[in-house]
Amino acid sequence: MDGNGRWAEKQGSEDRIDGHERGAKVLCDIVEEAKALGVEYLTFYTFSTENWSRPEKEVDFILADLLPRYLEQKMDFMVKEQVRFKALGDIQALPDHTQELIKRVEDATVEFSEIHANLALNYSGRSEILNAVKDIAAKASEDPSVIDSLDEDKFRNYLYDPELPDPDLLIRTSGELRVSNFLLWQLAYTEIYITDVLWPDFTKEEFRQAVGEFGKRDRRYGGV
Ligand code: FPP
Repeated sequence: MDGNGRWAEKQGSEDRIDGHERGAKVLCDIVEEAKALGVEYLTFYTFSTENWSRPEKEVDFILADLLPRYLEQKMDFMVKEQVRFKALGDIQALPDHTQELIKRVEDATVEFSEIHANLALNYSGRSEILNAVKDIAAKASEDPSVIDSLDEDKFRNYLYDPELPDPDLLIRTSGELRVSNFLLWQLAYTEIYITDVLWPDFTKEEFRQAVGEFGKRDRRYGGV
């Protein structure tokens, strides 16, 4: 969800958090539109492990104000729309109140399966893989056969959400041309759509356009 800071600046705002506030609103629109289009999984890159290096005020705003506020406000919406909510990442480092709300919304939506909305929070693709490797090593020290029988499908069981399918489409807003440590294992054959639109200006129509563009791609998975 890139471009929040630039959006705030473009509005003449002194404060980047105005962009995040607007960005959270857009997120909800996109969940609605995705559901209408029959998209089953959405994962929003909300806060990376690298984002801790931002000014404390901005970090606190995202993690201790905006996020818990929206989780509380949108819980009924998610239950009504049957949205399965999950957080991906090292959640234990988040403020206690935010962790409690994450757990509450995850529990309240655990039965749903039509659409999954995931927030990558304190997330790093490299850490996700590294944690998986450490868990495998710990298991293998008791049962060496774990290594011999390890394959790509089994490796997935050690990721934050083993049930998360590889994404079909990665949408990158604000014209950035990087993967930025996002879902590194899962993105192996993901189609990439890049738009110059800043995340707070991203609309249901833009999302529809990205999905339409995806529909025209010829996916060969290394074949011919
Ligand atoms: C990247 O844009 C954006 C973030 C690091 C924060 C994204 C968070 C939200 C949109 C809020 C999510 C809220 C809820 C309730 C889930 P940037 O700040 O790097 O923008 P810039 O590149 O223009 O500086």
